[in-house]
Amino acid sequence: MIKMTALILKTNDFESILITKAQDSWVWDTDGKKYLDCVSGTWTCNLGHKHSKVLQDMKKQMDDIIHRCMRFHTPTTLKAAEQVLNFLPNKYDKITFLNSGSEAMEFAISFARNVRDKTKILSLKDSYLGAFGVAKESSYTSTKASKLKIPYPECDSANCNCLDDFDTLIDHIMENYSSELACFVLEPIMVSGGIHKACNKFISKLCRQLQNVGVLVIANEVTTGFGRSGLRFGHQHFDINPDIVVMGKALGNGYPVSAIATRSALESKLSHSNYYYAQSHQLDPLGTAVANSVVGVFKDEQIIEKSQDKIKQFNTFFKSLSYPFIKEVRSYGMIFGIQIQPVEGKTCKELILEIKDALLEEGVLIGISLGKELLRLLPSLTITDDDLEFFKKKFVKVLDKVE
Ligand SMILES: Cc1ncc(COP(=O)(O)O)c(C=O)c1O
Repeated sequence: MIKMTALILKTNDFESILITKAQDSWVWDTDGKKYLDCVSGTWTCNLGHKHSKVLQDMKKQMDDIIHRCMRFHTPTTLKAAEQVLNFLPNKYDKITFLNSGSEAMEFAISFARNVRDKTKILSLKDSYLGAFGVAKESSYTSTKASKLKIPYPECDSANCNCLDDFDTLIDHIMENYSSELACFVLEPIMVSGGIHKACNKFISKLCRQLQNVGVLVIANEVTTGFGRSGLRFGHQHFDINPDIVVMGKALGNGYPVSAIATRSALESKLSHSNYYYAQSHQLDPLGTAVANSVVGVFKDEQIIEKSQDKIKQFNTFFKSLSYPFIKEVRSYGMIFGIQIQPVEGKTCKELILEIKDALLEEGVLIGISLGKELLRLLPSLTITDDDLEFFKKKFVKVLDKVE
């Protein structure tokens, strides 16, 4: 079986173990060994793998209908539309459902470009917006100079002086680019880009000024949505009211469904003669049933409220760690980044791979970024006390052995 992995295009750094099943915060390999999944799938299963209510609703939907001709709506989709729109912190009255976060980002940008009849996109220099197209070009991973990727102050203090330094940048953007901009895309907490959050004062002022001249603000909530950042949505860390909210990942809790929410006032500005988006699985009954179910669980089970205690416990634990190779721990809600620094005789890359592999051996699955020199953890919001204790024990055991 392992040899057959050679059949798969090497689009990523794949691990050698094969995963066969998952439940809550755990996954199992072909030998029956279990691993605590501290990255929630691909940062998607905020409710843990296979939440029972979501699974039940999925099965019911599969018995009824999975897919239909895209010219028809289904009652499930209409319910999901209402449910997701009502879950958002600001008022939106239009939504569509797609499949991946990247697709939803592309859609949102093309929507903004059409509304504005402009093409330029502004984003923060460490943000990741999608795997292809314009979203990819506007991400930190792209070196395309044509896209506007701006520096930002990082600050959590209400009394900060960040604007003193960054006012000139805002003025520069307003004077030189705002008239050509379709949108500013904000990834509220830059997770792929190293776990950073820009200063609220800076972002709020920038958004206000851009919106005053008609530039659309898109909140990319693909990763930060649905309680991941500690609040329902990541843009709630700022005093902003985005024109478009893009959702993915946790909306499907492991099933591929994404969405963009916006307002009818913007839809009415679209030039429909050249605006048409048709895709086989847009608004599919199964995906929207999952979205409806997931949001229902978030509300009914008060998932975000209940996760606060676990977030605190993780933070207390990470703060208590003292190792020469840990430079800093950054965290927002259930997003944790452990910044590694080289020690005598070992590079960051060596340390990160050693820790990741040793943890895997011990039954703990974490994420890493070699480029950003980080260990990255995004556990499920429903992680249990026992799981947390298991994690702490194994983590300390592994770090103690690093020489
Ligand atoms: C902020 C953000 N936007 C977009 C995406 C792309 O989503 P997907 O991988 O579902 O296409 C990701 C994926 O990690 C993301 O973190």
